[in-house]
Amino acid sequence: MPYYPDDVINEIFAENDIIDYVSRYVKLKKTGKDYSGLCPFHKEKSPSFHVSREKQLYHCFGCGASGNLIQFVMKSEGLDFVEAIKLLAERAGITLPENPEDGMDVSHEYKKKIYEMNRIAARFYYETLTKSPEGKIGYEYFVERMIKPNTIVVYGLGYAPDKNNALFLHLKDKGYSDKEIIDGGLAVERNNKIYDKFRNRVMFPIIDLRGNVIGFGGRIMGQASEQNGYKIPKYLNSAETAVFNKGRNLFSLNLAKKSSPYSIILVEGYMDVISVYQAGIKNVVATLGTALTENQAKLLMKYCSEILICYDSDEAGQKATIRAIEIINSVGGHSRVIKLKGAKDPDEYIKANGAAQFYKAVSEAVASTQFRLGILRTKYSLDSPEGKSLYVKEAVTVLQSIPDAVEVDAYINRISDETNVNRDAIYSEYSKIISANAKRNILFGDRNELKQDTGSNESIIPVDVPPMIVSAEKKLIYLMVENKKFISEVQNTFPAEEFSTETHKKLVKLIYDLKNENKNIEPSVLVNAFEGDEINYVSNLFYNLEEYKDLNKTVSELIKNIKTEKIKNQMMNEKNPEVISELIKQLSELSAENK
Ligand code: UTP
Ligand code: MN
Repeated sequence: MPYYPDDVINEIFAENDIIDYVSRYVKLKKTGKDYSGLCPFHKEKSPSFHVSREKQLYHCFGCGASGNLIQFVMKSEGLDFVEAIKLLAERAGITLPENPEDGMDVSHEYKKKIYEMNRIAARFYYETLTKSPEGKIGYEYFVERMIKPNTIVVYGLGYAPDKNNALFLHLKDKGYSDKEIIDGGLAVERNNKIYDKFRNRVMFPIIDLRGNVIGFGGRIMGQASEQNGYKIPKYLNSAETAVFNKGRNLFSLNLAKKSSPYSIILVEGYMDVISVYQAGIKNVVATLGTALTENQAKLLMKYCSEILICYDSDEAGQKATIRAIEIINSVGGHSRVIKLKGAKDPDEYIKANGAAQFYKAVSEAVASTQFRLGILRTKYSLDSPEGKSLYVKEAVTVLQSIPDAVEVDAYINRISDETNVNRDAIYSEYSKIISANAKRNILFGDRNELKQDTGSNESIIPVDVPPMIVSAEKKLIYLMVENKKFISEVQNTFPAEEFSTETHKKLVKLIYDLKNENKNIEPSVLVNAFEGDEINYVSNLFYNLEEYKDLNKTVSELIKNIKTEKIKNQMMNEKNPEVISELIKQLSELSAENK
């Protein structure tokens, strides 16, 4: 099985909430600390399927299916482990290491180093732009594009010299190694020579929410062109590094979030952001040269109540708008669309029409569903019954992604008015789609694969181990993970090898190792170390609903019980009277403890 570094797996769990994900398949209701609903893995009438946000695990008390989000995705989508990881990573805009076995050096110290290096690079580009003669060409380019001096300061814009390795030498001078500079994405190696990644470009530093410089976009001055048959891209963006992830950051969100805005405008390009900002609207962001990800949509939703999409007005922009709407809908957000007539993008619109006209366009932003229906309307003629039917069928597919039932109803009325088709007929088309989806999503899978696991799986627990010990160990493991302070106490008493089953040994060893390395110990992550039936078993173990009043007392009692049971077990198999009397002595000592 390919190995992904813990950081990557942790990130996947941090960015994909199990409740959000499972809710797409199962209608969940909050019940106490958990959420519950009808199990998607077996037929049932009353809900025995539970999901815990706290533990990031699911468990069905009916059929015993249990696991973390990765297992849920595997089961529900019929994927293997790696495919499930890929799906979840993509959903969250996380970039996976290309070669999982390699892992990545992403320690905190290392990241800090890259942040520092990026900051030095940003300063270098900025000073070159504003203070040096070779940066004049960049400065003039910005002036030509009507960027004000103050905007250069606010965004820390810069210029990368037209030299092979000016920044590289500067960074070497500051003590960074070749590897660090290359790993940080600021230089590239070609034919055994190191070149600056960005040369002869105006530079846009990308800054995260904590104010760290995480990467750069660089634009050529003038039009995209070819050189010796090689097409020079208009914009170049930093490659993904230990600190830069294109799907999880947004250009200018650090500035946009400052005013706690009600809405945030989402545009396509760096220059668009800057123009809108100069026009006096500061709540504006752009993606980093890629389409909007779910992760970015969620990030935006943390800082505003609605996203105003203002993409390019060409066909590609329109398609990207529809995709962005779908992404935002899928994570439960609200969006509207700003339509700009007679200009390619916000930057050109503002230059041509002025800021006031742009404000007007913003105030006239249309609801995203209305926008999508508007595009559809132009595709079909409503003069014929066939045209109406095609339009209605496609229109209801647009409605299926709307989470709000009242809104759906209102749009059905609107479509009915527009087409003169009876609303019941439209509603029935809509219901067809919804139930087809539901069917697809209710995943009966292969029923035979489901084990009626109630926690005493024979393949996992050998018959000669007393159930009392198994059960006490399970509780102890559960409590150690629930409350990390108990780990040392248990570790001092029972080395991992002393646990009674192979699964317990492996699990406990993992917990001890993680503790010794000072790493996070999460049930959902521990489950990943197992395969097959063990997954169910381990996940089940963490799905302990017992309430313990006095945890300290419970833990010491469990330890004592396990010790006692072990001694009794030994006694039963012992023939030597001397050993037996020794064991009896131990037993009485044990029972005298804590009294
Ligand atoms: P556009 O081509 O729409 O450029 O790309 P723009 O923002 O209008 O730029 P100007 O006005 O010509 O300067 C939009 C965004 O797509 C990414 C960049 O993030 C850019 O801001 N892009 C574009 C690239 O990453 N590479 C490219 O070669 C082009
Ligand atoms: Mn533009």
